[in-house]
Amino acid sequence: MLRICLRKKKNLPYSRPLFAESINRLLSTQTGSGIGKAAATKFINNGAKVIIADIQQQLGQETAKELGPNATFITCDVTKESDISDAVDFAVSEYKQLDIMYNNAGIPCKTPPNIVDLDLESFDKVMKINVRGVMAGIKHAARVMILRGTGSILCTASVTGVIGGMAQHTYSVSKFVVIGIVKSMASELYRHGIRVNCIPPFAIPTPFVMSEMEQIYPHLDSQRLVEIVRNVGVS
Ligand SMILES: NC(=O)c1ccc[n+]([C@@H]2O[C@H](COP(=O)([O-])OP(=O)(O)OC[C@H]3O[C@@H](n4cnc5c(N)ncnc54)[C@H](O)[C@@H]3O)[C@@H](O)[C@H]2O)c1
Repeated sequence: MLRICLRKKKNLPYSRPLFAESINRLLSTQTGSGIGKAAATKFINNGAKVIIADIQQQLGQETAKELGPNATFITCDVTKESDISDAVDFAVSEYKQLDIMYNNAGIPCKTPPNIVDLDLESFDKVMKINVRGVMAGIKHAARVMILRGTGSILCTASVTGVIGGMAQHTYSVSKFVVIGIVKSMASELYRHGIRVNCIPPFAIPTPFVMSEMEQIYPHLDSQRLVEIVRNVGVS
């Protein structure tokens, strides 16, 4: 079971497990595939009602159908604040409350790795999804969680935002910023009983990573590429 723990602070109860006895209502950005879909499945298996908020309508709808009656899909582009605001309002109108917000949407950056060739157009595009999207998600989740004095906000960073030099600069920088956002927001929102936490995964062979790998190793088949991803960091 996934548990998020926090030091006890004055006026703040001990952190409760994410999957409490009561039903949790989760809104997750990017759940059409990969980590988001796996997380949604885990949450549903632990009794949560999940709203899938993804830019890909068909994929999102298919995923919601596959996950069953406790999953609902809503189209959401995290670069549009109104989409995120609408998704949060939808969660409240559909399930009366929002317990958990999972800001998981993120894209890689395919421009050259060296700083002198940095493509600032791509930089802005990645920041708009990976950074601004997370800020907007926290803003609107906090808007409804503060009223109830409780809630949990999760954000996906990356090991590339913990250790420099593991990915293309733009992507890496965007994930360092996600960790900074979480620290900054947590310092305010704990006063309202809201936890803000960050998950920095290592390499996982999702479509996100596999498309990168296919570009780097076009001569290798997908099974070999999955093996390489799974063995990263293992000598
Ligand atoms: N896979 C890994 O190895 C890995 C490692 C560290 C961190 N991450 C992070 O995990 C998160 C999920 O990655 P994944 O590997 O599951 O990806 P994935 O490629 O499986 O899924 C990407 C999803 O993001 C959605 N999306 C893209 N742009 C969007 C937008 N503007 N608004 C809403 N949804 C949008 C897509 O529709 C798709 O469903 C990302 O933040 C990524 O940076 C992944």
